Amino acid sequence: MATHRFNPEFTDNVINAMGPKTTPRMRKLMSGLIRHMHDFAREEELTVDEWMAGVQMLNWAGQMSDNKRNEGQLVCDVFGLETLVDEITFTLADEAKDAPTATAILGPFFRADTPWRELGEDIVKTRPADAELVFMHGQVLDFKTKEPLAGASVEVWQASTNGLYEQQDPEQVESNLRGKFKTNEEGKYWFYCLRPTPYPVPNDGPAGKILELMDRHPFRPAHIHILATKEDYRPLTTQIFDRKDKYLDNDSVFAVKDSLLIRKFSYHYSCTPHQNTVSYLP
Ligand code: BEZ
Ligand code: FE
Repeated sequence: MATHRFNPEFTDNVINAMGPKTTPRMRKLMSGLIRHMHDFAREEELTVDEWMAGVQMLNWAGQMSDNKRNEGQLVCDVFGLETLVDEITFTLADEAKDAPTATAILGPFFRADTPWRELGEDIVKTRPADAELVFMHGQVLDFKTKEPLAGASVEVWQASTNGLYEQQDPEQVESNLRGKFKTNEEGKYWFYCLRPTPYPVPNDGPAGKILELMDRHPFRPAHIHILATKEDYRPLTTQIFDRKDKYLDNDSVFAVKDSLLIRKFSYHYSCTPHQNTVSYLP
């Protein structure tokens, strides 16, 4: 029984227009999407102008996107959708007693063609004048046995101090501030990188417009992205955050989790390729 005063059959007519070749999962997803979209339009009594503004945002996101700019994902991120999908995935894994380190969103700046680097290498290939170099290290373990995982791949990427990832910034060399490391026989990895700094997500397109319309700032707290993979294991996508960052409580893409906040561990002098490095212990 319809609880609104509009055509009570319309939404079912649209859903029932799907043909028999649609897979069950696709039918379920499309039915839910159509039902929620129609309910939203009816509940808010969406005007033609408001709907058209939304269409223009979608088109603008498409026109801006290329292999260096993923505006569609960015729009989802400012709405919290990637973080929500990440939470759903992690909760299902947790309920199946299969959730190790907390996950966090991939974000739009991952690159599938990141180069392999030697353990101990410096991923800072274009060094900003205000750089603070840090030593980052960690260990990959089998969640069930707690044994170290040798030969796992640990991929990392971070923005420079100007807030830009290398693919956004012609001043940075290709693959600056990203690298893929293979863990040693103790499952350990280590490398040098920049002490991460907070940065604004790109806000010169529809995602920025949406933030402005909602009176929100674009900043993300300082973080480093990590993707750990190993054959026969589920990949782990996560981020680590500087425990002292001022944006931890209002990340523009809502990705912070308490267990991903890290503490400053120690300072090293002269025994490393860089002076005055800081190491982080996740
Ligand atoms: C990032 O952390 O790289 C990121 C995540 C979501 C939106 C924009 C950037
Ligand atoms: Fe990031």
